[in-house]
Amino acid sequence: MEVVIAPAQELAVLAAEAIEALLRRRPQAVLGLATGSSPSQVYDELARRHAEGGLSFARARGFMLDEYVGLAADHPERYRNVIAADIAERVDWQADQVQGPDGLASDLSAACAAYERAIADAGGVDLQLLGIGTDGHIAFNEPGSSLASRTRIKTLTTQTRVDNARFFDGDVEQVPTHCLTQGLGTIMEARHLVLLATGRHKAEAVHQLVEGPVSALWPATVMQFHPHATVLVDEAAASRLQLASYYRQTYDSKPAWQGL
Ligand code: F6R
Repeated sequence: MEVVIAPAQELAVLAAEAIEALLRRRPQAVLGLATGSSPSQVYDELARRHAEGGLSFARARGFMLDEYVGLAADHPERYRNVIAADIAERVDWQADQVQGPDGLASDLSAACAAYERAIADAGGVDLQLLGIGTDGHIAFNEPGSSLASRTRIKTLTTQTRVDNARFFDGDVEQVPTHCLTQGLGTIMEARHLVLLATGRHKAEAVHQLVEGPVSALWPATVMQFHPHATVLVDEAAASRLQLASYYRQTYDSKPAWQGL
């Protein structure tokens, strides 16, 4: 696992560079998309590179990590709509090139199985962007999730609903109680995981992710088993890392050509 500690804007540029390098090498790449605050500067940087540098998504596919259950199709916080506004509509992506689990399906289990098939049919995810919850979730794999889980329905923890109330006028009651989420086993099949975390409120989750024992209590720790995982954190999110100086030394001496 590689840990890079840098200011937030630099982290966003590093992630966007990795995505641009992938798309230039493989225009039909499959990108895994996270929602929330963590990737928003990456999406800004990608939109800029599309507008100013000709970076094209025209042949690429996108798969979202998760979706709330039951939010109306036109609800601005429905993740499908968030992803459209944050990235898909800002680049040359047609609506059908980006998919997410269907949180409005009448048969949610069938929708989860169909989503797993769609990812597999696309050849799997090349690069998966991730954020991390303060309770250690990735996607919406809350504490207690099976480390081998697949896309399924999950109940959100009170902590996650409180954390996400900022997107719902600060009203936790408006935050859905359930979601569909890629499982940890699903995410682990992506070929490169790139997780972003900023702010002191993420410090404990980042410490557990990188340095804690692998445990369903901190679901993100499963990433320690991934052969190509990159953790991009600012100083505040890195503030509980025991080996921070070693991670800095390692990254500082890395040849630039290696990329992430
Ligand atoms: C969103 C997702 C979640 C978020 C996490 C952090 O698609 O999968 O795991 O990445 O809750 O959210 P932010 O970035 O808003 O702090």
